Amino acid sequence: MKSFFITLEGPEGSGKSTQAARLVKRLADASLKAVRTREPGGTPTGEAIREILQRDKAGEPIVPEAEALLFAASRAQLVRRVILPALKRGRIVISDRFADSTTVYQGHARGLGVERMLDLNAFAVDAAAPDLTILIDVDVRLGFQRLARRHRKSGRDRMEREAIEFHENVRQGYLNLARRYPARFRVVDGSRSSDAVEADVWKLVKARLCAAGLLTGCSS
Ligand code: TMP
Repeated sequence: MKSFFITLEGPEGSGKSTQAARLVKRLADASLKAVRTREPGGTPTGEAIREILQRDKAGEPIVPEAEALLFAASRAQLVRRVILPALKRGRIVISDRFADSTTVYQGHARGLGVERMLDLNAFAVDAAAPDLTILIDVDVRLGFQRLARRHRKSGRDRMEREAIEFHENVRQGYLNLARRYPARFRVVDGSRSSDAVEADVWKLVKARLCAAGLLTGCSS
């Protein structure tokens, strides 16, 4: 059965989550059923890990190695419990972040090493390989300005409290990865309005689904 796996990646405030929701709606309008998930999270175990990673649930500093393994643990659970079963049923899966986040945040920005994180990801993801990864690229300061309202309400989470240089490294790490895997990655300019970004994302996804024979009426 034909399936398709799309991941959305980007720095803080890039608008990925908004775009993931809009993409599901576009697919539904095209009569395609999609499963939307997020990382860390997407399963009860993953959501519990998210609380530890984002909200300091364990109440102690998390060492970088444990951080990487916790993200990988959440991913291993999500892949086997949600993503692979959905792909086997012929669904389109959309994940708000996936393995590239570990490569970039822990491997590049945290300094654990890109190659080491690629190995860790390979162990965590089994056969779940994204068909298309959309990188929503945004200037770090603009991303944080967008998150200001959320921060006033609920504060910055653990990763968002990292220095601006860390997040500049995240952005650079993503752009490096996009150059390394040009067949899988597409970069979209996320500094524009949500509507403009949505139009670009849909154009990219539509083209790939048409090429994969998953979407009809592709000439228009
Ligand atoms: P988000 O769901 O709001 O994007 O928050 C997830 C945070 O976790 C974000 O700061 C990126 C970070 N993260 C990593 O550092 N490594 C990972 O592997 C994943 C999935 C997320």
